[in-house]
Amino acid sequence: MINPIVKGAELSLEIESLAFGGKGVARKDNFVVFVNNTLPGQKVRALVYKKHRGYAEARPLKILRDSPHVVDSLCKHFPVCGGCSTQNLDYKEQVNQKKKQVEDLYIRQAGIDDFTVNKVIAADKQYNYRNKMEFSFSNRRWILEGEKEVPESDFALGLHIPRRYDKILDINECHIQEKICNNILNLVRAEALNNNLKPYDNKTNNGYLRHLVLRYGYNTGELMVNLVTSYENTKLLEPIKKALLNQFPDINSIVNNINTRRADVAYGESEIILHGAPAIREKLGDITFEISANSFFQTNTYQAEKLFLTVQEYVELTGKEIVFDLFCGAGSIALFLARYAKEIYGFDVIKSAIENATRNAVINGIGNTIFHKVNLDTYFKKGRNLDNYPTPDVLILDPPRSGIHKNMVKALPKFGSRRIVYVSCNPTTQARDIIQLIHWGWKLQSMTLVDMFPHTPHIETVALLTK
Ligand SMILES: C[S@@+](CC[C@H](N)C(=O)[O-])C[C@H]1O[C@@H](n2cnc3c(N)ncnc32)[C@H](O)[C@@H]1O
Repeated sequence: MINPIVKGAELSLEIESLAFGGKGVARKDNFVVFVNNTLPGQKVRALVYKKHRGYAEARPLKILRDSPHVVDSLCKHFPVCGGCSTQNLDYKEQVNQKKKQVEDLYIRQAGIDDFTVNKVIAADKQYNYRNKMEFSFSNRRWILEGEKEVPESDFALGLHIPRRYDKILDINECHIQEKICNNILNLVRAEALNNNLKPYDNKTNNGYLRHLVLRYGYNTGELMVNLVTSYENTKLLEPIKKALLNQFPDINSIVNNINTRRADVAYGESEIILHGAPAIREKLGDITFEISANSFFQTNTYQAEKLFLTVQEYVELTGKEIVFDLFCGAGSIALFLARYAKEIYGFDVIKSAIENATRNAVINGIGNTIFHKVNLDTYFKKGRNLDNYPTPDVLILDPPRSGIHKNMVKALPKFGSRRIVYVSCNPTTQARDIIQLIHWGWKLQSMTLVDMFPHTPHIETVALLTK
């Protein structure tokens, strides 16, 4: 039989589920087709634009039947922005799809037939939840369909169009950040335009304004505005600062990070404080964290509390345990749990994160945490350096998206810990690492999914393994 799935083919497809990354999954003659911007339950006519060995990618041409789970999207920038790509799917179904994805992954990839996600913690607050947003300035504004190319197309402040590093969609309302941050975003844009400040051009390396990073402490009400520029000239930022303090006199911190490198990152090699403190405070439970412009901090404060309570439940501390918090960032998990353990050792590769963690221990009067700057890819390789520490009863792992480096995974059996709690923002790499741990004798006891990122395809899971 001739396979009808070729590039350029038009197919009628039933969308069965959502895949990682949020694309709809359909099957045609047992061949998987991923369809952009579709929802489970929809029937669509779609055009195949890429064929791979075992699957194809398609874009929808027409919705033939809508999904029973479709809801109105709140955001006027949807779907062009691409940020909250599942916001037109009923929230309950979003979470249900994430659960299914994790279960499917563990059953297929890890070969655990009876695997289920034991608990799902959905978000009570599905909008206005992000405590940090990074917007970019650009001289290449994304021109919307039907919009004529207008002179103002050489200035934008907003978010990257998916898969386009060079084009920025002008955003004036983002519903996942706190409302006041939208007012600040629009005021900064207006002042930059009024004062003829040039956005940075990432092709020619010219221009001044690069990023606007807003941080808001949901449990403290504290606000930070970070203007990232390509060179130092704080005089140019004076009108923005003046307008901000005029309209929002309670802003706690305005800083200028200077990034002279070409890399499109919203942190600088140096920082100038333009107003107030160098950091804002946020609380998780009754622990206060000082967060500076470049510190890592969980972006959803309310769900971070629930995530850490899940970790607390899984570690089962009695006050006598030695705990290792591997990939500790600014120490949030270690400090959250410190009162329940004998000692907690935190490890992270970022110097400023370790400095933040140490400082946060001091401001909370916590004396049983010790933080070390080390590269975990190599530090414990083949079990070395373990003699410098007492034997950990419990390991907490919270690696970046890429998961745990193979050297580090191989070293884990040498720690002698019977209990491991593995927090992950990427179930694919988490499953890969857990397969290894199962191979070495740990048992996967329980899995909780905490929805940290409503309306987006991102998934956060916490696994408990015991020996
Ligand atoms: C997902 S964050 C975890 C943050 C922390 N647990 C929290 O909740 O705030 C991952 C952390 O891994 C750290 N990291 C990445 N690669 C590392 C490495 N090779 N060695 C040590 N730490 C690393 C990053 O600096 C980051 O702080």
